[in-house]
Amino acid sequence: MNLILLGPPGSGKGTQAKLIVEKYGIPQISTGDMLRDAVAQGTELGKEAKKYMDAGQLVPDEVVIGIVKERLQQPDCEKGFILDGFPRTIPQAEALDKMLEELGKNIDAVINIQVPEEEVVKRIVNRRSCRNCGAVYHLIYNPPKEDNKCDKCGGELYQRDDDKEETVRQRYKVYKEQTEPLVEYYEKKGILYNVDGTKNIDEVFNDINAILQKFT
Ligand code: AP5
Repeated sequence: MNLILLGPPGSGKGTQAKLIVEKYGIPQISTGDMLRDAVAQGTELGKEAKKYMDAGQLVPDEVVIGIVKERLQQPDCEKGFILDGFPRTIPQAEALDKMLEELGKNIDAVINIQVPEEEVVKRIVNRRSCRNCGAVYHLIYNPPKEDNKCDKCGGELYQRDDDKEETVRQRYKVYKEQTEPLVEYYEKKGILYNVDGTKNIDEVFNDINAILQKFT
């Protein structure tokens, strides 16, 4: 099963991707996580990407297309994958079509998680992520059992550099301008499924799961 999770920043793509990984055993490919790893490791790619990420802008298409192409060729993607945060522009979607054609694969479903701007801001400013395993929490909606400590691995929780309100609003603006056109792109292909992302985490997962039943 090959999936794309689409939706504005903070809509719950990462949270739902992790639940899909647990249930279906296919890997999550998050371009945001891959770029943050590159930043943490201080690579040239990371140094370049950080400038765009901290400003709430998209990293140039050729950079992310390159990292996704490499990742999709890894053996763990053979039984399926979840693209989280990619594609984010029409050129990225077209590049993905080309990559998949070369690999003899196709996308089964694009899950579009819909959440309005004010809810996105509320969610992101209270988000905390684990430095060690990447688990995602929310201080109010999904708090860790112990302050600043990951329930799963005991790792330290931190707030992302791009999670300040001003940057979140910029990221949302970029989403509306550059990523939202993908809704129509995938609607035309007949593989788009809209999900109400304002429900609680389990309810959203139930709705996604009902869609995924068709592909298992
Ligand atoms: P990326 O890391 O992909 O960020 P994003 O798309 O902005 O999405 P987020 O990770 O902020 O949110 P999410 O939808 O995963 O929500 P989450 O599950 O965490 O990208 C970061 C940056 O990298 C970009 O700005 C760009 O610069 C660059 N980049 C990445 N990919 C790129 C690409 N393809 N092209 C170019 N540049 C790229 O949930 C948010 C919070 O809400 C959490 O606290 C969670 O616990 C809580 N929550 C989740 N679901 C619910 C719910 N149903 N109810 C209540 N709370 C909930």
